[in-house]
Amino acid sequence: MPNEIFYFSGTGNSLALAKSLAGKLGNARLTRIAYTDETEIVSTAEKVGIIYPVYAFGMPKIVKAFISKLKVSPGSYIFAICNYGGMSGGAMKQMQKALAAKDIKLNAGFGLVMPSNYLPFGGAELEEKCQKKVSRAEVRLEEIASIVKAGESKRIESPWYVPYWLTALASKSYVKGTVKDVKKFHADDKCISCGLCVKVCPSANVRLVDGRPQWGSNCELCLACLQWCPVHAIQIGNISPNRKRYHHPDIKVEEMFYNK
Ligand SMILES: Cc1cc2nc3c(=O)[nH]c(=O)nc-3n(C[C@H](O)[C@H](O)[C@H](O)COP(=O)(O)O)c2cc1C
Repeated sequence: MPNEIFYFSGTGNSLALAKSLAGKLGNARLTRIAYTDETEIVSTAEKVGIIYPVYAFGMPKIVKAFISKLKVSPGSYIFAICNYGGMSGGAMKQMQKALAAKDIKLNAGFGLVMPSNYLPFGGAELEEKCQKKVSRAEVRLEEIASIVKAGESKRIESPWYVPYWLTALASKSYVKGTVKDVKKFHADDKCISCGLCVKVCPSANVRLVDGRPQWGSNCELCLACLQWCPVHAIQIGNISPNRKRYHHPDIKVEEMFYNK
């Protein structure tokens, strides 16, 4: 396969972008980034893309772990697309550095604004606003597809006004949060024991005990469990009961199943 797109997604935005880009490029394999015991992830594609959400100005832990295991063919063209609700910070620089540490050159790095799924900062944005962001991203994807098809090397997109030390700081506190905040997840009385939270967890961190979800210590804070729960029974602390849930409107929950 000439093109391979790796993606990590909690609420479907990155998956929707990956699917759309794969369609525009043609001959593209979509491979999701999920928890794995494998020590090496090999891609023999000529063009390798990585699509991921920005977490606290940086990359999700699972994406960092993926890069540390990635092996690509010499001379392959590498591009990355981060997507975020409003501010990408140094998420693309972090990607560039992580790849450089593996002697892999990032040829092009793009940032796309998408609807925010970070419920602790507020519930889902208005539908109209989400739609606008999705449509704008789709237009940019056309441009990105032609750059990738041509194999052009491009400047790595990163906002100049966010110093990298801030990204490093925010990233550290995100990693701490994945340990601290996972303790705040719980299911309320609306839980119907459907187990969807288990299926959509990319890090196999949720299991049902006596019909109720329990969280382990390997959380990404992607919020998939909370955002996809069909009865809004999953809460984080006491801030979430009245906040509107979000997931990408065109992605079906079955497409997000990491675990059966
Ligand atoms: C833990 C976490 C941290 C986030 N941090 C940021 C951030 O620093 N800046 C931002 O603009 N959006 C942030 N977001 C929003 C996501 O990057 C954005 O909604 C993304 O499109 C979600 O992609 P997905 O649907 O593929 O998971 C964060 C979301 C989560 C869950």
